[in-house]
Amino acid sequence: MSDKKGIILSGMRPTGRLHLGNLFGALENWVKMQDDYDCYYCVVDWHALTTDYENPLRIRDNVREMVIDWLSCGIDPQKAVVFKQSDVKEHAELHLLLSMLTPLSWLERVPTYKEQLQQIKGRNLFTYGFLGYPLLQAADILVYRANAVPVGEDQAPHIELTREIARRFNHLYQKKIFPEPETLLNVYKVVPGLDNRKMSKSYNNVIEISTPPKEIPAKVRMMITDPGRIKKDDPGNPHICSVFAYHRIFNQDNLGEVEESCKEGSIGCVECKKSVATHLQNFLDPIYHRRKEFENNPLLIKEVLAEGGKKARAVARETMEEVRQVMKLV
Ligand code: TRP
Ligand code: SF4
Repeated sequence: MSDKKGIILSGMRPTGRLHLGNLFGALENWVKMQDDYDCYYCVVDWHALTTDYENPLRIRDNVREMVIDWLSCGIDPQKAVVFKQSDVKEHAELHLLLSMLTPLSWLERVPTYKEQLQQIKGRNLFTYGFLGYPLLQAADILVYRANAVPVGEDQAPHIELTREIARRFNHLYQKKIFPEPETLLNVYKVVPGLDNRKMSKSYNNVIEISTPPKEIPAKVRMMITDPGRIKKDDPGNPHICSVFAYHRIFNQDNLGEVEESCKEGSIGCVECKKSVATHLQNFLDPIYHRRKEFENNPLLIKEVLAEGGKKARAVARETMEEVRQVMKLV
């Protein structure tokens, strides 16, 4: 047994290269947890198929790109189990078995279900797999008997469902096989997109973690500042300016100074942006170089996933043996 605080599992869909919003919304939390918990970090490629089954071409590349981002940002496969969902077939078996005891109404009332049916256009999502998305997620979590799941707020209903399913299972088969996992809400740092909306791939306003540092100044120049500042010495309001949000993260030491000079109009936006760009470049530089190492050595990521898959399967297999026993399959 390890001396850790418990078992954590989290997952991300392989949507390609991650951006600063992903880093400061989720990944940073994952990195911090590695020392305190037994962490399982899963690339959920089956979940990606629930919406992209018609066009799966990019999933494989996306898995790779995402794992490179994880490792470049500090996920350490020596500390955390980094693996791909489809490498551990036990997730699918548990999903199937849980589907036997999951009332349809529990899935239909999950808020993300109806929202996404309305929001995602141009694809037929009236599928069995899409309805079952949160149940597959429950299987991801329960198969490692995770005690907690770090996620963003939007995912909280899925973890709640997971708890209900764990409870129902334990009750039906009169054995406490599954702990009820807690939701650990990600600590979030606000990184607005280049157009001052939420940073999101679908808005086309992101800064990718893998952006070459030399391209950063041009991106920062596109950012929206306080629109009330016309002349260089107009007093500004940093709190409505996306550039200031970046100072908050990347230039903490001088934050007070930047705020003051903006408010009194003694610094121009061009100069203010230059300073943020430099800090952001310094931040991304080591990440960029780590990424290059992985890109130059394609086998490395394969090995990490193979190794992680092996560790994950060993744990999942044990859980499934108990599950089969109580469900009288053996
Ligand atoms: N549904 C999650 C998301 O879209 C991804 C996910 C799949 C997940 N399985 C998980 C998250 C298990 C936490 C735990 O972000
Ligand atoms: Fe934003 Fe800086 Fe311009 Fe103030 S000076 S509005 S913080 S870019």
